[in-house]
Amino acid sequence: MGDIVYAGIDIGSLSSEAVLLGEDGILGYSIMKTGSNPRRTAQQCLKETLERNMLREKDIRMMVATGYGRISIPFADREITEITCHARGAHHLCPGTRTVIDIGGQDSKIITIDKRGNVTDFAMNDKCAAGTGRFLEVMASALEMDLEEMGLKSMEAKRATPISSMCTVFAESEVISRVAEGHRPEEIIRGLHEAIARRVFGLARRLKVREEVTFSGGVAKNPGIVASLKRLIGMPVNVPDEPQIIGALGAALYARDLSFKEKRLRKGR
Ligand SMILES: Nc1ncnc2c1ncn2[C@@H]1O[C@H](COP(=O)(O)OP(=O)(O)OP(=O)(O)O)[C@@H](O)[C@H]1O
Ligand SMILES: [Mg+2]
Repeated sequence: MGDIVYAGIDIGSLSSEAVLLGEDGILGYSIMKTGSNPRRTAQQCLKETLERNMLREKDIRMMVATGYGRISIPFADREITEITCHARGAHHLCPGTRTVIDIGGQDSKIITIDKRGNVTDFAMNDKCAAGTGRFLEVMASALEMDLEEMGLKSMEAKRATPISSMCTVFAESEVISRVAEGHRPEEIIRGLHEAIARRVFGLARRLKVREEVTFSGGVAKNPGIVASLKRLIGMPVNVPDEPQIIGALGAALYARDLSFKEKRLRKGR
């Protein structure tokens, strides 16, 4: 109790996260489905994290919102883009990071950063579900598996069943046809993971992928995608313990900076 708290909230297309930061590091976090009312989700996510840490809303000194739904959070002090927040969060957790790959529910991005964590360039696919978490969710349901099971299952595959379609609708029928032809589920999943890795890596053609590479977003919890990306990039890939909170963590770090800046201004320095 009595801690000074900074909050970061990331309202993504599928999931929302709140991170509470103290002077010495992360105090707690929550992850929940965004649902149809992002404003209510943001409030619930924050409330749950505060309660779990025996804190109150008035303990929050500064709050920054990010993510696709950030404009729906009127109680935040500032909004900052996802690109900037993912870069900041990844750099904080893995300071050697020079490339961030973020695969979320509805888009995927590659961000290059300098040694201080500032964004130098980025490329983004936000046109369709191809290569995103949503794509994987549709394929998991076609294979009647949950997402966690799907990621682990692919690690058993000795080879990949090639999946040529990246359009979600066509890829779903391709998966169903491969199952009917008797291909092993783990090989089909590995084929899907490789297709996603190629698609995301294709984004990087314009950018220079430099070590260290850090993977953020919910899809980084899928060990099969991590393995496919590593094989394709030919470099090690850092996956922090909870990659889904990296955007919210970046937002909380900016909240802490903003509060320090305001304090200095008040003191007239
Ligand atoms: N335990 C898990 N195992 C495998 N995949 C997971 C797991 N948890 C979440 N995911 C994947 O993460 C995706 C959601 O990621 P994330 O929370 O980063 O998206 P988002 O921030 O809501 O989306 P966006 O950034 O595109 O707006 C889901 O679609 C799912 O594929
Ligand atoms: Mg996101």
